[in-house]
Amino acid sequence: MTPPARFSASPIVRVLAVESSCDETAAAVIEDGRRVLASLVASQADLHAQFGGVFPEVASRQHIRTIYPIIDTTLKEAHLDLSDVDAIAVTRGPGLPGSLVVGINAAKGLALASGKPLIGVNHLEGHIYSAWLDWPPLAAGEEREFKPAPHFPLVILIVSGGHTELVFMRDHLQYERLGATLDDAAGEAFDKVARLLELGYPGGPVIQKIAEKGDPRAFNFPRAWLEDTWNFSFSGIKTAVLREVKRLKETADKLPVENLAASFQAAVVDVLVGKTLQVARNFEAREILVVGGVSANKPLRSAFLGQEEFPVHIPPLALCTDNAAMIGAAGHFRYLHGQRDALNIDVMPNWPLTEV
Ligand code: KG4
Ligand code: ZN
Repeated sequence: MTPPARFSASPIVRVLAVESSCDETAAAVIEDGRRVLASLVASQADLHAQFGGVFPEVASRQHIRTIYPIIDTTLKEAHLDLSDVDAIAVTRGPGLPGSLVVGINAAKGLALASGKPLIGVNHLEGHIYSAWLDWPPLAAGEEREFKPAPHFPLVILIVSGGHTELVFMRDHLQYERLGATLDDAAGEAFDKVARLLELGYPGGPVIQKIAEKGDPRAFNFPRAWLEDTWNFSFSGIKTAVLREVKRLKETADKLPVENLAASFQAAVVDVLVGKTLQVARNFEAREILVVGGVSANKPLRSAFLGQEEFPVHIPPLALCTDNAAMIGAAGHFRYLHGQRDALNIDVMPNWPLTEV
């Protein structure tokens, strides 16, 4: 198959990427680390909703069903064959072991069959590199300017279902972890509070939706500032919501779910934004990145984009939650850096970003 023509002085690098760390099976083809030729995500959210969270065995079984068809369709959408890509990037961790294994085995199979190099990518590094991607995917034959790349040094807020971290990035592939949550991740708090309010799973989008009809000042939930550290804590606020729900169930006819959701969301957003701006000031960052599933949150986006102190990059909604395009972007920079992994690499379910 003839790959679509592109304008570029240096040889074009194309990476096929695979992601299966949690409950999304995804594949993508990325060109030069920034252009998306195709990106598909098969979400299992509906499948897990009945359990109120991700059921690991169900997730890995579903990944097995979906992974090869999604890779196939992604290549077709990009108008490419496996022989047209330069490398195969795959999420190696952190994530659910049984889910990661499916993606890494598929990627190993493709690498073995094609002779293309295999590149294991850290899922959090993937979220960070989602900020480099141009969106939406390019149509065949389409040419367009890249959106401006982030400028170093950067302060990055990673907010997802499993992680809430503040990272300092001086240059490509260099990470210094400044702080992290001491207990629940921000997304996890959204999910747990949604369960408490009987709103379903995943919690972030449902809380955001119902909060639109609520008053964010109705309840003054605690903000854990943890002064003198760059860490977060979200278990206190979750407990405060629980206490309030118990109290209201005894005294009120109907739970004011809208006000509870809006007040909870406002407290989480206050801390995430306030703390990130403090860190950016303190470390003299040039720009800020906000990435990960919770960066899809509307009030969080508005708060970051509404301030004028720092330019802020937040990926488009499709690239906030798990996807393979971000793994392809990170895989591209790792490929340029010379990373080539052996075909016997194993998954790393607890792989910290600082050990990549
Ligand atoms: O990055 P992600 O897709 O998976 C992980 O790597 O964890 O993040 C999923 C998390 C879930 O906890 C979900 O509730 C949260 O992101 N999330 C949101 C929103 N959309 C997804 N949280 C708040 N507001 C949203 N709109
Ligand atoms: Zn993620």
